[in-house]
Amino acid sequence: MNFKVFDTYDEVSVYTAELLAEVVREKEDAVLGLATGSSPVGMYKELIKLHKDGKLDFSKAKSINLDEYVGLEGSHEQSYRYFMNTNLFDHVNIDKKNTFVPDGTVDDLAKGAEKYDKLIESIGGIDVQVLGIGPNGHIGFNEPADALKMNTHVAELTEGTIKANARFFESEKEVPTKAVTMGVGPIMKAKKIILIASGENKALAVKSLMDDVITTKIPATLLKLHPDVTVVLDKEAASML
Ligand code: F6R
Repeated sequence: MNFKVFDTYDEVSVYTAELLAEVVREKEDAVLGLATGSSPVGMYKELIKLHKDGKLDFSKAKSINLDEYVGLEGSHEQSYRYFMNTNLFDHVNIDKKNTFVPDGTVDDLAKGAEKYDKLIESIGGIDVQVLGIGPNGHIGFNEPADALKMNTHVAELTEGTIKANARFFESEKEVPTKAVTMGVGPIMKAKKIILIASGENKALAVKSLMDDVITTKIPATLLKLHPDVTVVLDKEAASML
């Protein structure tokens, strides 16, 4: 794992946008594995800037998102489809038909999950996967557990994750308790991974990426087995290193 520490979140955003832009410039039809949440918001802003300045073309790129809340339509302001449209897709020239987010509203979620895995395969896997990290070390919504799942599945969110995500909702009661999430399989098979962490509440999870332990109780530690991971941190997230 390659660690990069910057003084500010803005620098983290500029740097990670450049890393992702490099992939798209090298391969115009790259498959971008994308995350929602606070961590990549600055990176998405920088990508929009690069595009508006004529330095980045998404016309052939595809994207595949990590997760979506169960029960929220894409038009719901807290859905991850809505997040991706408003934070990135509406502002760049990616073809929305080539942007994929799991559907948390289908009747048969298990079948939907299977379809999502087939989709990932059919578009050739992921060239670059952007990840945030939960304070508990989750990646996607692969929460700490005795075992992790390879494939897309329905995950019960932990109490801590629900509390952490309540900041986006009117109250904690409104936070969905389940999400459809990519499993660790396609994440680990991505050619390149960029993990972004900002803020002191991530410092402990980030510290666990530095030691010699791999445990399903801290899912992000699995990334130690991947050959090309760049962990990009602000100084608060790096404060325990
Ligand atoms: C989001 C996702 C989550 C977040 C993580 C960190 O698509 O998969 O794993 O990356 O919960 O969230 P933030 O960035 O909001 O601290």
